[in-house]
Amino acid sequence: MSPADRHGPPGPAAPAGRPDDGAPVRLEGLLKVTGAARYAAEHTPPGTAYAWPVPARVARGRVVAVDDGRAMAEPGALAVLTHENAPRLKETDDATLLVLQDDRVPHRGWYVALAVARTPEAARAMADAVVVSYEPEPHDAVLTPDHPGLYVPDVVNGGFPGSRERGDFDAAYAAAPVRVDATYTQTALHNHPMEPHASTARWEDGRLFVHDSSQGATTVRETLAGLFGVDKRLITVVSEHVGGGFGSKGTPRPQVVLAAMAARHTGLPVKLALPRAQLAAVVGHRPPVFQRVRLGAGEDGVIRALAHEVVTRSSAVREFVEQAAVPSRAMYTSPHSRTVHRAVALDVPGPSWMRAPGEASGMYALECAMDELACAAGLDPVELRIRNDTATEPDSGKPYSSRHLVECLREGARRFGWAGRDPRPRSRAEGRLLLGTGVAAAYYPVYLAPSRARARAERTADGVRFLVGTDATDIGTGARTVLAQIAAEALGVPLERVGIEIGSTDLPAASLAGGSSGTASWGWAVHKACRALGGLLAEHGGTVPPEGLATTADTADDVPAEPRHAKAAFGAHFAEAEVDADTGETRVRRLLGVYAAGRILNARTARSQFVGGMVMGLGMALLEGSTMDPRFGDFAERDLASYHVPACADVRDVEAHWIAEDDPHLNPVGGKGIGEIGIVGTAAAIANAVHHATGVRVRDLPITPDKLL
Ligand code: MOS
Repeated sequence: MSPADRHGPPGPAAPAGRPDDGAPVRLEGLLKVTGAARYAAEHTPPGTAYAWPVPARVARGRVVAVDDGRAMAEPGALAVLTHENAPRLKETDDATLLVLQDDRVPHRGWYVALAVARTPEAARAMADAVVVSYEPEPHDAVLTPDHPGLYVPDVVNGGFPGSRERGDFDAAYAAAPVRVDATYTQTALHNHPMEPHASTARWEDGRLFVHDSSQGATTVRETLAGLFGVDKRLITVVSEHVGGGFGSKGTPRPQVVLAAMAARHTGLPVKLALPRAQLAAVVGHRPPVFQRVRLGAGEDGVIRALAHEVVTRSSAVREFVEQAAVPSRAMYTSPHSRTVHRAVALDVPGPSWMRAPGEASGMYALECAMDELACAAGLDPVELRIRNDTATEPDSGKPYSSRHLVECLREGARRFGWAGRDPRPRSRAEGRLLLGTGVAAAYYPVYLAPSRARARAERTADGVRFLVGTDATDIGTGARTVLAQIAAEALGVPLERVGIEIGSTDLPAASLAGGSSGTASWGWAVHKACRALGGLLAEHGGTVPPEGLATTADTADDVPAEPRHAKAAFGAHFAEAEVDADTGETRVRRLLGVYAAGRILNARTARSQFVGGMVMGLGMALLEGSTMDPRFGDFAERDLASYHVPACADVRDVEAHWIAEDDPHLNPVGGKGIGEIGIVGTAAAIANAVHHATGVRVRDLPITPDKLL
């Protein structure tokens, strides 16, 4: 079978005259495609040594002995660090970073030693040769919906209450004429950025210099200062180019701590690039989730009672509870509501942030339940969502600063060709392919964090040049380019006149690239610094003095602590699925998203964010997932051969659009954040399309062929 037979005809060519024609291309694009951009593992100071970690082979227990005799006999061997000789770490609120501090093994894959050698090959050979003896203890690695250790946490990830009640859910649900009660499950998911986590560290005269692949050098520096008990002014962290993160680099990870420890121990610069096979155990993941959703509605489809109950797992090392029920507090009108999370701390690698933690998982369940409600009420699923729209956030009672979900649904329906859809499942086929379409809403809150920036005007041979700096991070999003655009606009000068520096703690401190908050947070500071510089320039009669002009800005007092409005981006996802009736294989013919996310600053990079999120949602729906091996307490899939992400052949026709949204309550930049919303609801749209195609309601992700036959 040729590849063309296997994957079907290619999707249509990219539409001509796309609205991103003319949007600036990535400023660092040429550096990246020519290999000139340097990533964290591509800095090699003279005398650099290489480190390779040794992961624990038991699921729980103690390290009894580490025999490094054979390892130290390797040519080029420098040191084996263990809990007995590694530098002592001081303060942190993230226990996953307290590596090599004691003999405890909290989960399989936890680092129990670190080999350091003159070459990467020698370090790897040493790590293989280190002999660790353990005293194993019984472990518990499997989440069940009725696990006796389940508890309701006060607070879940994001600072949200673990449990909320409004009105009388039980009575309202019991009295509702139309009801849905369904439980959805999904496996663990892994971030797997293209560039695995890596750090290069060196100490010099009590100062620490680090190149780290992270989503925020400012955060890494603060954390290293606490861990090593060093004034943060003596630490420089650079994250200039980063090959993806998806949350896994949102907080510092063990590699940067180990690299700094090894550099201190050996007195040499040390480079540590984690092998992909180790990522699953040490950089976080989206935990498996059980979600029971109950919707009680009138005959008109209007929801009277909504319950979203989440069961998930945390780890014994650090509490992290995926806030999957939180979007149900914001999405639809619901006078009676119960949203609750239950979690259990197991002896497993710690879950953490993965693109839209909470929303991606929670909206999968809620938006599938909405589809089931549409079927039960005999209503079109687009119309059902429109009937349940709300101008105020149900949980807080605050008005939305802007909410254009209905417009996204209507515009998406128009572009997708939704009108005239036959709602009956299994009503369309082409040969043995069953065809169906599905819709789901998208939602992501607006986050903002205080940041700082500086701006300078300098005379150059051919006029004036503006230099803007902030410790923002471009993890592949196009942040660098968009910040330069914001600066140029605030200064009223062409983009070519603006130079932008990001990704170093030598620059003014900025928030991390997370929560889709980067552009708004850093952009606000850049805008403020550039406006101030423009004012200063005007005071000088529009002429830059020989010594130049400089300003700094800090938005700490500008970002409101208690905003009057609820703020969120919304969107609508439409999917067309084809299911092979004989093999059960599902392919997504078309995916179309329409978003309302405030002002879109760069159509080219924005489209890339939306489409990237949708493709990740496609992976979540059909391909991605990992298996916790109960005996070993570890994930079975630890490379991209076994953990399947969408390949080009899986991604056919994906379109992202947005509607103009002018929200005066956001920030001077006007954007709501676009990094995460593309993944939210996509899996539900696909699952709903699969149901429409086949009549089979698969409530367990990923939708693999066995579940359809
Ligand atoms: Mo994102 S999961 O907030 O880095």
